Amino acid sequence: MKRNREVYLSEEQIQKQKEIMARIRERMDIEKQRSGKDKLAFIQSYGCQQNENDAERLRGMLREMGYSFTNNKEEADLILYNTCCVRENAELRVFGNVGALKHLKARKPHLLIGVCGCMMQQEHIVKEIKTRYKHVDMVFGTHTLYKFPEILEKAMNESYTVIDIMNSDGYIIEDMPIYRVGRVKAWVSIMYGCNNFCSYCIVPYVRGRERSRNPEDILQEVRQLASEGYKEVTLLGQNVNSYGNDLEDNIDFADLLKMVNDIDGIHRIRFTTSHPKDISDKLIRTMSECKKVCEQLHLPFQAGSNRVLEKMNRKYTRERYLEIIRKVKEAIPNIALSSDVIVGFPGETNEDFEDTLDLVRKVEFDSLFTFIYSPRKGTPAEKMEDVLTPQEKQRNFQRLLDVQNEITLRKNQQYLGQEVEVLVEGVSKNEPDKFTGRTRTGKIVNFKGNEEMVGKLVYVKINEALMWSLSGEVVEK
Ligand code: SAH
Ligand code: SF4
Ligand code: F3S
Repeated sequence: MKRNREVYLSEEQIQKQKEIMARIRERMDIEKQRSGKDKLAFIQSYGCQQNENDAERLRGMLREMGYSFTNNKEEADLILYNTCCVRENAELRVFGNVGALKHLKARKPHLLIGVCGCMMQQEHIVKEIKTRYKHVDMVFGTHTLYKFPEILEKAMNESYTVIDIMNSDGYIIEDMPIYRVGRVKAWVSIMYGCNNFCSYCIVPYVRGRERSRNPEDILQEVRQLASEGYKEVTLLGQNVNSYGNDLEDNIDFADLLKMVNDIDGIHRIRFTTSHPKDISDKLIRTMSECKKVCEQLHLPFQAGSNRVLEKMNRKYTRERYLEIIRKVKEAIPNIALSSDVIVGFPGETNEDFEDTLDLVRKVEFDSLFTFIYSPRKGTPAEKMEDVLTPQEKQRNFQRLLDVQNEITLRKNQQYLGQEVEVLVEGVSKNEPDKFTGRTRTGKIVNFKGNEEMVGKLVYVKINEALMWSLSGEVVEK
């Protein structure tokens, strides 16, 4: 497939990592025989689903190298934090957690500690880790994730901190192992990176430029998932609507959705994230025509005021956003809508904020992810001046939550008495005597069930609607 830039990592590079994985595996097998114990890895991921999907690759590599997994840091031989830097609080949590490992490392000198992911693509962070967190053994970024075996082997042999960061537009890496968290639904990255440079956002700086995987590789991955018994896929990208822009073949996201829809064995298709500037009528039509594409759309609007949207470099107006929503609701009447919103962007006034509230009331989202603006080093918005005080921002944030909570509950209550299709995922974490799954619209449903239902579609009559979940009883259909 032709592209406007070469993005595939060379076969040799991947081969090299595979050889190292085999070497580590041999070494681990010998150690295991000697000690009679498995080596245990603990991985924690922060941030978006793309990062979770990266963590599944790390787990895949670790499994290939002979590691087993634990949820208990105390008993781990290797601890990996896959980090996020989209807001300051995500970074602070990582520093807190890495700092807390100092004592564990002092007690267990053989413990290996690695930090990787988006945060590590920033020079000032790596510097801070190097100077203040000397107990860390490995530091690598998003662009060197595929080199994890090589980095790990070095860390096993040497006592200094192995640092491997690459500043690049990024590669596509196929054919590396993966060990997924779930057995029923799976994430499939269809593209990497972002070209949008919203003025507040760090993602384009740490994830590189947009690059779309070849459609055939994506379809092959989904077919493989279907053959392993997976029933649902979520197609991932920072802006899936621009899928294919870098491919010279004439293919767009709507075409890809159609192709995935044709794969036998998969019952449900979701995707995230969409950018309003790139949502086409063709995509809306395709969503309504493709049976497996779920009635759910996450479409971040970020702010309701045109003045703020312009400063954010979002490239659409509130009118355009509302127009898209109108079309989507018309084409898919029972669609569940969700969005991301930032409160307190520099220069946002109380009047601007009223526009955000107004948009939220007009659209009536099923759910909303709300964030207080957090300045990110090196982004254009970092230099912009605030109008509101932190207290005013906090008050607006709370008002937004109150308005949305009322809408969310009202939307959920509309399910009372309805029989809904649920894909069963397993035992509920919050109510261990119940099973849990989701509706096509993405709502969590808890009900009395059994192990045999896992991975199957059942029908549940809803008799209780809460803010975060629905519950009911299984009915025969
Ligand atoms: N690519 C996706 C998601 C990016 S990050 C998209 O464009 O929708 C997820 C969300 O984090 C964003 O939608 C935005 O609402 C929020 N976010 C990003 N940068 C932020 C910042 N500096 N401060 C506060 N929230 C931010
Ligand atoms: Fe960030 Fe904007 Fe790209 Fe989303 S589209 S990742 S908010 S720059
Ligand atoms: Fe965070 Fe990186 Fe995702 S910054 S939101 S983990 S792309």
